[in-house]
Amino acid sequence: KMADHLRKYEALFTLTPQRMRMIVEAFKESLELGLSKPGQVVPMIPTYVFGWPTGKEQGNYLAIDLGGTNLRVCLVTLQGEGKFEITQSKYRLTEEQKQEDGQQLFDFCAECLKAFIDSNIEGGDIEKGAILPLGFTFSYPCNQNRIDHGELIRWTKGFGAPNTEGHDVVTMFRKSLDKFKVSAEIVALTCDTTGTLIASHYVNPKTKIACIFGTGCNAAYMEHVGDIPKMAQLGIDADAEMAINCEWGAFDSFEHENLPRTKYDQIIDETSNKPGEQAFEKLISGRYLGEILRLIICELIDEGMLFLGQNTYKLEIPYSFDTAFLSLMESDPTDELLMIIGIFTHFFAVETTLAERQFFRALAKLVGRRAARLSACGIAAIVSKMGYLEEGCAVGADGSLYNKYPGFAERIHEGLQDVFGEKGRNIITYHAEDGSGIGAAIIAAMTKDRKLANR
Ligand code: BG6
Ligand code: GLC
Repeated sequence: KMADHLRKYEALFTLTPQRMRMIVEAFKESLELGLSKPGQVVPMIPTYVFGWPTGKEQGNYLAIDLGGTNLRVCLVTLQGEGKFEITQSKYRLTEEQKQEDGQQLFDFCAECLKAFIDSNIEGGDIEKGAILPLGFTFSYPCNQNRIDHGELIRWTKGFGAPNTEGHDVVTMFRKSLDKFKVSAEIVALTCDTTGTLIASHYVNPKTKIACIFGTGCNAAYMEHVGDIPKMAQLGIDADAEMAINCEWGAFDSFEHENLPRTKYDQIIDETSNKPGEQAFEKLISGRYLGEILRLIICELIDEGMLFLGQNTYKLEIPYSFDTAFLSLMESDPTDELLMIIGIFTHFFAVETTLAERQFFRALAKLVGRRAARLSACGIAAIVSKMGYLEEGCAVGADGSLYNKYPGFAERIHEGLQDVFGEKGRNIITYHAEDGSGIGAAIIAAMTKDRKLANR
């Protein structure tokens, strides 16, 4: 019976190469549409980061990163020649903080930054009281019309802080910095993908694309200004290059015409704080994978297939099944699947049989593999649009899923070969070094250098 069920889920979650190629074609169209007109489903945001770093960028910079799970504050010293030093502190965001008033959220960021400055910057080669340039990594879609400005289009990754959507987050954060008298001046607003793009090119110039596979999922790449029709009116040199923050997590939102959504994906979408939105991200990112598996398990409990006579209330709590559990389940090296026993007894207080544990592991593999293969479709769309396949390119990738989920990168590479055949081997992803810290600092330095050059 378990085996019959597994076959059903295999059929639901497996992506054939042919299906993948269809997704890639639709994806490419969405990317082009986003570049052609403002306000499209995939927004393709011009970042005002012009071209690649030279490697000569220098100086001390602060960076703050409001990601999906953590708040990070960094001091970065760029030493030129692609070298840098970094000191950092991490603060965990609570679910409540993600929903409280936006200005309050920025106040919290300002307080953390102040505490960091007070304990990390005293004397040394940085003058006391010096106002340091700050790169602000804010990893949510923002419309920008210059580097130090960005209106939040919509929250993603479960955030919902009121009074923030539609507002310039730089102005809001500056207000908080003033309130707490923090000696820092925001010079650049970036997204984690743009930061990762710039930071990974700094250490590996073959890099042409950057991706984040973490709590959320997104990509950035470098575009020719002449190929961004929606910017044609602005009088920017058509030969210049500008990084584009795709915000590809939004692909196939609202209409849901191209992605293979199961009923579990639909439940996640409908019960989320943003129904209809971030359709691609909801099939891939770490915020949702555990929940997909939990919904399948709950369905089987309801059908009387699993845990008969046991109290399963802990499994019935939404979002109680962390994506990290899927990683652990897939990597359990023991024949008895002891780690899986541990997860189910310790966190959910239920007993499992070996057959059930093997079944859960197989399910985790289906969900994880689908996520990686869909990720490959996104990468393939950019590669194909930009014509990178023949000469090949490197893709800097970061985020908890990419870094911690066993086999995630290999599955992306397999997926790229399913889309492109042998030539898919020309596209290689690698773990990028700290995009939001180093990347934000380099972008801040590039901004300063550009201002000096334009004087
Ligand atoms: C980190 C990057 O490793 O991953 C950040 O340095 C990025 O730039 C983060 O935002 C995303 O991963 P997660 O899992 O924290 O969402
Ligand atoms: C979400 C955000 C995007 C970010 C990604 C990864 O998709 O909208 O800005 O890059 O998560 O953190």
